[in-house]
Amino acid sequence: MMVKQQAEKGMTNEGVAVQVCGLIKTYPSTYTLGCSCVCCCCCLKVKRTAPYHAVKGLWLNLAKGQLFCLLGPNGAGKTTTISCLTGITPITGGDALVYGHSVASSVGMAKIRRLIGVCPQFDILWDALTGQEHLELFANIKGLPPSEIKSVAAKSLSEGKLKTATNVRVGNYSGGMKRHLSVAIALIGDPRLVFLDEPTTGMDPITRRHVWDIIEDAKKGRAIVLTTHSMEEADILGDRIAIMAKGKLRCIGTSIHLKSRFGAGYVCNINFSTTNGEPQTEPVKFFFYNHLDLKPTEESKTFLTFIIPHNKEPLLARFFAELQEREYEFGISDIQMGLTTLEEVFLNIAKQAELESSSAAQENLVVLHLTSGTSIQVSMGVRFVGIPGTESAEHPKGLMVEVFWKTDDAGTLCISHHSPEAPIPPNVELIKNESLIGDMPVGFTIDPNQILNANGR
Ligand SMILES: Nc1ncnc2c1ncn2[C@@H]1O[C@H](COP(=O)(O)OP(=O)(O)OP(=O)(O)O)[C@@H](O)[C@H]1O
Ligand SMILES: [Mg+2]
Repeated sequence: MMVKQQAEKGMTNEGVAVQVCGLIKTYPSTYTLGCSCVCCCCCLKVKRTAPYHAVKGLWLNLAKGQLFCLLGPNGAGKTTTISCLTGITPITGGDALVYGHSVASSVGMAKIRRLIGVCPQFDILWDALTGQEHLELFANIKGLPPSEIKSVAAKSLSEGKLKTATNVRVGNYSGGMKRHLSVAIALIGDPRLVFLDEPTTGMDPITRRHVWDIIEDAKKGRAIVLTTHSMEEADILGDRIAIMAKGKLRCIGTSIHLKSRFGAGYVCNINFSTTNGEPQTEPVKFFFYNHLDLKPTEESKTFLTFIIPHNKEPLLARFFAELQEREYEFGISDIQMGLTTLEEVFLNIAKQAELESSSAAQENLVVLHLTSGTSIQVSMGVRFVGIPGTESAEHPKGLMVEVFWKTDDAGTLCISHHSPEAPIPPNVELIKNESLIGDMPVGFTIDPNQILNANGR
């Protein structure tokens, strides 16, 4: 909310490297060959998928000198967000300012490219070139002075497994070594903003720790955006962590903040000593049940684990004072308390997002109230829509409007406004959706490329 208000008031903050303002990305529909029966090749049809709304309006500030860690289940929209911020894919709506330059303009993007380093999710390397040649090539592209290129490249390769593989062709590198080289490439030329999309995937624990050190060192003086599926990595490296699911940012904060706000509570581990006979787990279980109404989530002969919800906090001081007094009687050797894990927060958030999307049965349809007075339903995020029932001798394909989208405060995509009705160009093909849902007609989706080509845009 704060980010949105700041952006709307045009406020800029010196400490901010990237200001993401309602970023939207919708992938256009694609064609697939499909058949509705199992037996034949007589009814093969070209089917067009609906446009895919991958990022549904992100509002976010990324600070200089900090590592921002973006987590999320597969398909959440992390790579798409990075692709939008690095100009790999054009944005559909909203904007993002990287050190004040807009990703929506080609001039801004040209300036942004000079400031950033990218380690893409999938390595883009040439098998025939060596590690040294890769780094020299990228140092050249980044515009480093020719006299420095050899020494900068050699320095990046002077540590870890890459040291011995400097002059080995990348085709012979292992998966982990390729990722390591991609990280080194992202950092070459001292970029002010670095994107690392799952940089440590496939690395062994030693290499991973080594790369963590490199990333930790690289934080100074620049902003880093990192995505990962390792909660440990996020916990260790992330100054701020956000979890994204189904194209929306679900939560953001420090690791401790997320655990205390979105976790189930505290984890309490009780270990029993075995020196004075059988451990007394049953009386301790009864003690927890009696005072806190809790059963163990895990148990063995020598330890018990309880998850204590936040709402029990007022009872905990007295409870643990009494438990400690009776430690000897119960045969307890030690009691450990901690916040629940980031993994648990992640699972909670992902589950909540799934529930939300399954309960929105018709989430893809939104009502569009036309200025002519009629209302139709349109697919979420669609740009050009044909209006059913407007076909005439003058306009055989009927009329259409261009729909402009924005996000509401909850990050849900909604219609901002639409263009005046205009004739659909004769050569444009319409995607006929289900014609009526409820008693409201459903607009025809039109491939934006066809309209833009027809209008010479
Ligand atoms: N070029 C594309 N055309 C259509 N849909 C796409 C395209 N690229 C990505 N998508 C879809 O957008 C959604 C988000 O994909 P994205 O790659 O951003 O996810 P991610 O969060 O990076 O996932 P992962 O953790 O698996 O890398 C997915 O549902 C994906 O299928
Ligand atoms: Mg990805």
